[in-house]
Amino acid sequence: MASSSSVNLEDVPSESLMTELLRRMKCATKPEKRLILIGPPGSGKGTQSPMIKDEYCLCHLATGDMLRAAVAAKTPLGVKAKEAMDKGELVSDELVVGIIDEAMKKPSCQKGFILDGFPRTVGQAQMLDEMLEKQGVKIDKVLDFAIDDSILEERITGRWIHPASGRSYHTKFAPPKVPGVDDVTGEPLIQRKDDTAAVLKSRLDAFHKQTEPVIDYYWKKGIVAKLHAAKSPKEVTEEVQKIGPNDQLMLVSSIDDE
Ligand code: AP5
Repeated sequence: MASSSSVNLEDVPSESLMTELLRRMKCATKPEKRLILIGPPGSGKGTQSPMIKDEYCLCHLATGDMLRAAVAAKTPLGVKAKEAMDKGELVSDELVVGIIDEAMKKPSCQKGFILDGFPRTVGQAQMLDEMLEKQGVKIDKVLDFAIDDSILEERITGRWIHPASGRSYHTKFAPPKVPGVDDVTGEPLIQRKDDTAAVLKSRLDAFHKQTEPVIDYYWKKGIVAKLHAAKSPKEVTEEVQKIGPNDQLMLVSSIDDE
């Protein structure tokens, strides 16, 4: 018997079914890929993720989005995570590893995944390695969104999001067609509680102390590709699209050579 949460395909509009069918046919030819996006708050991870997801047919697993959904739904996980998130601190490794382990089992992750905002500590990176080893797979590439702290306050305090879809706007850099309203649904946009200049300081502090060592962890494995994240969104997208299986060294050296 179908579960109460399953979708009756007869009720899905033909156009949506066809679009999904065509997407699946296109995705069938794509190779598997497992990517990690690392960068400070506001470096553009969430902005670039939809493009990477569509291009490579991956699922997008953003721990920040998952935790915010848990906080909004007041689940036991959300109740535990809220205090740390409001202060701009990291929530415990065990909590986030648990949600990632579960999320990776989704059918949409069949071709691989983009991890956005995870791992954020060396402990999380080691636990992720153990998880992937059990599945006989490994991370292909870590995209390091390199950017100076001084650029981030303007990006963070001007950000507006559509909570249901995760679409992100910026009052100056990526304004919606109508101020305060989502372009696609017409629903109101909101600002995140932690997107203030004061909380950004704690988030940056956590990034430099706890997350930068994760970049070194993957650097030693030779799989880090650095991006010039201060460039325009379009230019960053072009850099991401240039990353191929064998050219990581070229990209890795490109920032340091400047
Ligand atoms: P999380 O939601 O992951 O936040 P974050 O890492 O701080 O990242 P952001 O979402 O702020 O930045 P982004 O790089 O995605 O920027 P965006 O593309 O939107 O985490 C929130 C909290 O959850 C953490 O503080 C922690 O408490 C907890 N948490 C999450 N994961 C955890 C983990 N693994 N372990 C423990 N705790 C965890 O861009 C920002 C703005 O800039 C947008 O308005 C955009 O339009 C604009 N913009 C983007 N790119 C450009 C560009 N190139 N030029 C100009 N503007 C741009």
